[in-house]
Amino acid sequence: MTQWLSRVQTPAYVADIEALKQNLAVAAHIKHETGCRILLATKSFAMFELFPLFAQGLDGTTASGLYEARLAHEHFHGEIHAYSPAYSDQEIRDLLPFCNHLYFNSLSQLERYGPLCRAAHGERSQLGLRVNPQLSLVKNNPDLYDPSAPGSRFGVFKESLTPEVLATVDALHVHNLCENMAEDSVRLIHHLMNVMPDALEAVETVNLGGGHYFTHPDYEVMALIEAINMLQARFNVNTILEPGGALTFNGGYLVASVLDIVDDRAVPIAILDVSPTCHMPDVLEMPYRPEVVGDSPQGRHRYVLAGKTCLSGDVVGTYAFDAPLQVGGKVVIKDMLQYTIVKTTTFNGMPLPDLGVLEEDGTYRVVHSFGYEDFKHRLSKMPMPLLTESTLQEFQTALHWPPFG
Ligand SMILES: Cc1ncc(COP(=O)(O)O)c(C=O)c1O
Repeated sequence: MTQWLSRVQTPAYVADIEALKQNLAVAAHIKHETGCRILLATKSFAMFELFPLFAQGLDGTTASGLYEARLAHEHFHGEIHAYSPAYSDQEIRDLLPFCNHLYFNSLSQLERYGPLCRAAHGERSQLGLRVNPQLSLVKNNPDLYDPSAPGSRFGVFKESLTPEVLATVDALHVHNLCENMAEDSVRLIHHLMNVMPDALEAVETVNLGGGHYFTHPDYEVMALIEAINMLQARFNVNTILEPGGALTFNGGYLVASVLDIVDDRAVPIAILDVSPTCHMPDVLEMPYRPEVVGDSPQGRHRYVLAGKTCLSGDVVGTYAFDAPLQVGGKVVIKDMLQYTIVKTTTFNGMPLPDLGVLEEDGTYRVVHSFGYEDFKHRLSKMPMPLLTESTLQEFQTALHWPPFG
């Protein structure tokens, strides 16, 4: 790891092509063994530089709305599906030119917009209805992540799947998992077969959603394959999976530098040039403790790794290393592609990390760097810059600032 790491200017997200290809190989295996279609849920990862890589192994993408669908249209050559808890008139009008697979969350939205999709795409239109299977299987923070949680706004219940309703749709959509292992994928599929057989008989396609964590070492891929094959054979349906996390799991890093070490605390605190709240929000939301390269239970040098913002809880966790951390040294936080790049903020004026790629031959390249303008332009449209680069330089010259470094 050290060779490419020395070339990374921090902070930077680094997508690891070899690791992503391994994930895509698992997806390809599932496709091969079942004939199902697999879509990338772009809400989890939308670094479109890498869409061509994903497009080689997948059938397309699924979008949470107009912007993700448009991005897929521009950069990912494949099917474009969209699901939203509710579309607006304008969003549907803008989506329809390039999206013919639309999933609706309610009967009212299906009734309102289904006919528009049929009119725009004719025989190519594919309408789906999201079903809430009322089967809670999500273990991590279910209040935040379980689509079947009591009071959930997602999907219609099986009682709504009347023959009249089913006659208007091509697909059922059941997104009900989050980082679940194969036993839960299988339980979900069996549950659908038990509680809504008539609905499964009536449609062409069943979209089994995301949350099947099939690239995790503990996930038994064969069990998923068998369950999908059973569903398809018994009900003569096509199936779709739309994973996000599984495709990018362990697919990259967030590389940070140590800016300072506060060493008068029980456990010294290393302040990094990244921030959980800005750059790894799931660490605080889920919450969880990400793995860090070099951390080991035997490590004699313990540190709290903390962010650079004002938030007291902007802390990654406590870690132990064999050697002491140094100011200017690098810290590599693992599994930082899924749901990270898409969620970054510039809270506290924090710079956005570079987006980089680690190629299979070990070369590192920067895909995109961000600067002050990216922070500023999300906040207002300023007619006149108050401090231009040249006035800033004049100040610095007048003050005789020494060069740093
Ligand atoms: C409708 C839908 N499909 C797919 C996904 C992708 O799920 P995951 O990243 O857990 O595989 C999500 C995630 O929330 C979702 O809401």
